[in-house]
Amino acid sequence: MFSRYKKEAPSAPAPRPKPAAAPRPSTAGTGNGAALREPSNLKPTGGAVNAVSPGTMRKPMPKSAAVPLAADKNRKRKERLGEIKLELHRALLDNLNLAALDNATEQELRLEINSIATEVLQEKGIVLNREERTTLNQELYDEVKGLGPLESLLKDESVSDILVNGPHQIFVERDGKLQLSDVTFKDEKHLLRIIDKIVSAVGRRVDEMNPYVDARLQDGSRFNAMVPPIAVDGSLVSIRKFKKDKLGIDDLVQFGAFTEEMAAYLQAAVATRLNVIVSGGTGSGKTTTLNALSSFIDDSERILTIEDTAELQLQQTHVGRMESRPPNVEGKGAVSPRDCLKNALRMRPDRIIVGETRGEEVIDMLQAMNTGHDGSMTTIHANSARDGVSRLENMIAMSGIEMPLKAMRSQIASAVHLIVQASRLQDGTRRMTSITEVTGMEGDVISMQEVFRFQRTGLTPENKIVGHFTATGVRSHFSERFKMWGYDLPAHLFEPTRME
Ligand SMILES: Nc1ncnc2c1ncn2[C@@H]1O[C@H](COP(=O)(O)OP(=O)(O)OP(=O)(O)O)[C@@H](O)[C@H]1O
Ligand SMILES: [Mg+2]
Repeated sequence: MFSRYKKEAPSAPAPRPKPAAAPRPSTAGTGNGAALREPSNLKPTGGAVNAVSPGTMRKPMPKSAAVPLAADKNRKRKERLGEIKLELHRALLDNLNLAALDNATEQELRLEINSIATEVLQEKGIVLNREERTTLNQELYDEVKGLGPLESLLKDESVSDILVNGPHQIFVERDGKLQLSDVTFKDEKHLLRIIDKIVSAVGRRVDEMNPYVDARLQDGSRFNAMVPPIAVDGSLVSIRKFKKDKLGIDDLVQFGAFTEEMAAYLQAAVATRLNVIVSGGTGSGKTTTLNALSSFIDDSERILTIEDTAELQLQQTHVGRMESRPPNVEGKGAVSPRDCLKNALRMRPDRIIVGETRGEEVIDMLQAMNTGHDGSMTTIHANSARDGVSRLENMIAMSGIEMPLKAMRSQIASAVHLIVQASRLQDGTRRMTSITEVTGMEGDVISMQEVFRFQRTGLTPENKIVGHFTATGVRSHFSERFKMWGYDLPAHLFEPTRME
């Protein structure tokens, strides 16, 4: 009936489970039939399932026990249903010719999936209700057309990160907290097939010879995978989901990431073209902060952005976006962030925003900041402002440029004005834990002063961090500049917060 989409039968086919002994439901064969039996009629426990006529499964029960028994039955039913789904999923994956299905239209595909599922369910004597059937069909459709088990997580708005540790363990991040999801892959082969589907769509390959890959999903989400043997217990996948509406300054203030006073200071800093570095650990909110800060740039300016994976969503009219490119499968065609940056300097930008500085492009970034493209911004991986400066020094040293340490430091000190520290705290909240100004050089050392910080004071019994933001009390090194540009920040902004 669906020969186009079904796998060729093997020469000695494995015997299928016998059809049910009891009479089949009249709806079988029409997919979502109307006369579907109640789930309580299901009698599945691994392997073939014999349909049992309604009533035979139920024992008469005393009235007083009805409520707890009903709850128990519901739980058991759910467990059994889970088992059926897994089994059916496996049977379908084994039987479908997925490559042929890839070319079908959506409607054709949904129809085929429906009939194949009906056939398998019929053979196994399994009856599902309408809702269960719809969910199952959707899961199977996702398998063929989408990214299988990942699809439901990608659609789930409350999920921000998806982390796969081998086929049977998928963690998701919701509200800043990582939690184990109930979604799994069938096995490593299944997981590898989905990885391959993602990377081949962007002309990349992942195998034993190229065991890791970075890519962007169709919806803009950032994707990274590493496969065995480098990933020891099964493929590792991380997905940073693309947020259509990035968090803006107001959202971040509302979420407690920083205060209105800090926002006013940052507005003055960005508008008066200070060079800003957002520093932070993995997933601490660097890109989000960078994106929010960019909203303070005047609409008349020409901004060029350079990223590995285009994540920034600038609101200005005059924006040129660049995405660096790794080499293709033949090892050719790479365009590094440094190549993009060098080229960007010839494209008459007012400001350059580099998504993340992590390598040799640091030289060009500092040069751009020093030579007429002030107001530029980037992010780096570091745990504090001081650590951030060391990271910059290391990057310069690693890029192969021979430069005395003092010269290196004075170049950093004159290029970078502000370091904003983003942190993901242990309770999952993301906060701007420090704003530090770079004030120049004292001898061989870069001098800095912290203007705002998050002061931690304790922990609640629920492990929520207690603390408050405060100015440190120092006068901004850039107050004159702010004043000259028309940003006369009130003195109280820089006064430490008094806690009762
Ligand atoms: N203050 C915040 N409150 C709540 N969620 C936030 C906050 N800042 C960022 N996020 C969310 O946290 C996730 C990680 O943020 P983001 O991509 O900005 O981090 P990152 O430091 O750039 O990560 P990476 O190191 O992987 O590049 C995103 O889903 C983002 O929407
Ligand atoms: Mg980022």
